Amino acid sequence: MTILDGKKVSSEIKLQVIKEIKVLKKKTGKVPGLSVVIVGENKASKVYVKSKDKMASELGIKSNVIEFDENISSVELIKKIKELNEDGEVNGVLVQLPLPKKFNTWEVLTNINPDKDVDCFLPTNLGMILLNRANIFPCTPAGILKIFDYYNINVSGMNACVIGRSFIVGKPIAAMLTNRNATVTICHSKTKNLADHLKRADLIVSAIGKPGFISEDMVKQGSVLIDVGINYIIKKDDVYEHCDELQIKKFERKGYAITGDIHKNAYKKSLYYTPVPGGVGPMTVTMLMYNTLQLFKKKQDLLK
Ligand code: GUN
Repeated sequence: MTILDGKKVSSEIKLQVIKEIKVLKKKTGKVPGLSVVIVGENKASKVYVKSKDKMASELGIKSNVIEFDENISSVELIKKIKELNEDGEVNGVLVQLPLPKKFNTWEVLTNINPDKDVDCFLPTNLGMILLNRANIFPCTPAGILKIFDYYNINVSGMNACVIGRSFIVGKPIAAMLTNRNATVTICHSKTKNLADHLKRADLIVSAIGKPGFISEDMVKQGSVLIDVGINYIIKKDDVYEHCDELQIKKFERKGYAITGDIHKNAYKKSLYYTPVPGGVGPMTVTMLMYNTLQLFKKKQDLLK
């Protein structure tokens, strides 16, 4: 079994992005711009937004975080999005999800100019993936494919089982794997006999958010295991279940551990697996930066 080291792949992509931005700055006098809009007080969202802002600055992207109180109206929020659509220095507009309950998420998101849809969440951009004509992809699925490319994993002909049908991960990765000639099954909460689907799979992509749910007996010998789950767990009977030493060491000081959807005992049956943390997770924010650069290049007509 080989660990798919998302941190390493992510570092390489970051270096590549930094290098390209330097060259483009010399050539055009401009740098890519990313605007992140956050509404309300969701703690996890605040942490994510901070890490996006920090990484953008580190890579030479002009980042701008716009924070709104939860009391802002839809009209005001949409007005701000439209301003960002018009701003020539902004290449990517991201509205951090989830929005507070009172907002209609799609009413808000569909006001983003599709050419600035850095998350690749809008219908036209997701549609381009279905047509196999896309040049931008949602960050987490894009990160998974970058990991495959780095480790020369060819999914053509594989039986792939994707668990989860969200528009952020499950549906786009299923289409992207199909475009790479995998035979894809999408499973979800209403799937019957999930274990039967998993046992047939050469490749499993799990995005369900259930710690250690996929057990050793559910996976095939020699499979590729991609774990998108990031689950926070606390001690039970004095042990952190589903976690290996590395995971525990990293988070125990904080009183919790982080584990994926795939039980650590399943790793030994795999040919490749992504650990949690350190697998898919580090790729997501990096791919947001990569996407911002792609949108910048497209605007400057520099995309091949
Ligand atoms: N909330 C959780 N993940 C994401 C993401 O990838 N993009 C946005 N905009 N919000 C999120």
